[in-house]
Amino acid sequence: MKELRLPPLKKSPTTRFWRMDWNQRYLDQDIPWDKDGASPVLQELLRDLPDALPAQGHALVPGCGLGHDAYLLASQGYHCRGIDLSQKALDLAQQRYQHPRLSWQQGDLFRELPEEAVDLIWEYTCYCAIQPLKRAAYVQAMHQTLRPEGILVGIFLLDSGMPPEEGPPFSSPLEELHTEFENHFELVWERWPPHSSPGWERRERLMCWRKKP
Ligand SMILES: C[S@@+](CC[C@H](N)C(=O)[O-])C[C@H]1O[C@@H](n2cnc3c(N)ncnc32)[C@H](O)[C@@H]1O
Repeated sequence: MKELRLPPLKKSPTTRFWRMDWNQRYLDQDIPWDKDGASPVLQELLRDLPDALPAQGHALVPGCGLGHDAYLLASQGYHCRGIDLSQKALDLAQQRYQHPRLSWQQGDLFRELPEEAVDLIWEYTCYCAIQPLKRAAYVQAMHQTLRPEGILVGIFLLDSGMPPEEGPPFSSPLEELHTEFENHFELVWERWPPHSSPGWERRERLMCWRKKP
């Protein structure tokens, strides 16, 4: 198992949070979050709980990193777009994964989401990567890019083991997740993920949200 290490951090001059140079992390191959394969939870959802996800359509993976989950979704029938700030991550993703239904976009999810509405968003380790002050903007951006009644499914980090203002990864207590998402989404279901890396059990929550009209 790869240990989740604290990244080298630069203090932002404008906020009390830490800024991360994501592209540099990929250039340095300093990416302990990468599991070298698709999330086991997404694999299990697709295999065992297909009714939990829209049957087909367009999917988006924000903060897709090296693209493992985006590729899995494309190979399972979705037209999937992976978006990430890091050009290096996307170059590596593109080298490794090609599929006619798969596309990549370099950009900031707060500014450059695809114009075409999607049916499904798969969230994995992106929400915990953004500054907590930007969470409301993240929820709004995801709401905006989903088609009416579209679904966002994701694993959310409840407890990083660090104080809430320290990260990434940033913790999101469960009540705060509800408060943030309930502005724009209704909860379909939530549960403990069937798999967590050792030491992360009961510290992350699998949630399925439907866009409110
Ligand atoms: C912890 S990594 C997780 C990557 C991938 N989901 C995985 O599990 O390997 C967070 C990712 O989010 C991307 N990211 C952070 N802020 C972003 C933003 N505002 N817009 C798009 N991508 C962002 C980073 O470049 C990085 O690839």
